[in-house]
Amino acid sequence: MLDPEQIIRLEADRVVLLDQRRLPGEEAELVCRSAADVADAIRTLAVRGAPAIGIAGAYGYALAAARGEDLGSAFSVLEGARPTAANLGWALREVRSAPDPAARARELHNEEVERCRQMSAHAAELLAPGSRALTHCNTGALATGGQGTALGGLREAWQRGLLRHVFVDETRPLLQGARLTAWELEAQGIPHTVVADAAAGSLLAGGEVDCVLVGADRIAANGDTANKIGTYPLAVLAERHGVPFYVVAPSSTVDLETATGAEIPIEERDPGEVTSRFPAWNPAFDVTPAELISAIVTEAGVHRPPYVESLELVAA
Ligand code: MRU
Repeated sequence: MLDPEQIIRLEADRVVLLDQRRLPGEEAELVCRSAADVADAIRTLAVRGAPAIGIAGAYGYALAAARGEDLGSAFSVLEGARPTAANLGWALREVRSAPDPAARARELHNEEVERCRQMSAHAAELLAPGSRALTHCNTGALATGGQGTALGGLREAWQRGLLRHVFVDETRPLLQGARLTAWELEAQGIPHTVVADAAAGSLLAGGEVDCVLVGADRIAANGDTANKIGTYPLAVLAERHGVPFYVVAPSSTVDLETATGAEIPIEERDPGEVTSRFPAWNPAFDVTPAELISAIVTEAGVHRPPYVESLELVAA
């Protein structure tokens, strides 16, 4: 597994991160020298995935404090970089209220690593021996700075001898599955097959999938879950074919202030990511209604419906 510091770290005068836009072809570091640089890295997906975005935001704020930048502006520019992941605003508020922002940011990174470890262990317990799993987007080390959420659970299940195969949605339009998840699974020696997003229905209909595991960018108090665009159709398909659909995410992604998915801000990205020739609509996330989710796994354990009760004690 990637070392947490390889994915992102704070140095005295910079934040250094593994540039995810260049993977899997090239392992290159991106150096950010101001809060605006870090915000730009978040906006352009050099660093991405809800927990990793939170850590990047925290390091960006700590860098701004060390450089004597205007902290009000640093907070706003970082918070505005991406709207959907709950982790970004949460992490920024954590470092803003800390006496030593750099120490709190590093501590927060360590806490996410530990949350990943715990939720992965809980998620692995949901898999029966010989399981074939389907996943969407990238929810591994790259997305979390730790061992991952859904992908962390799959890795743990593989190590326990429970997992047979992972099907990886390519995840249009930016191919986080085909580029990043496949790269992580290959490095870990876990058998996998990349499929076009549109092939998921055929896989499920053919009885090739025993469980679906995905991450989350924001989980509302009632369990409605925003995640990478294409997650909701997977949940509908899973229900149609009687396959359990699990969401794996840390408490830093749970937002009890947001009552339902209808209130979750959904980022719309440049239509040019879809096509540069014709008009395009490019929402980056969708919301899966709680009733399609078999269980939500956090570091605290496995939460079952009704989520309005089972999630109550979770928020970070
Ligand atoms: O646009 P991205 O690549 O940041 O979207 C990431 C996802 O949707 C992940 O599934 C989510 O952040 C969970 S990652 C642990």
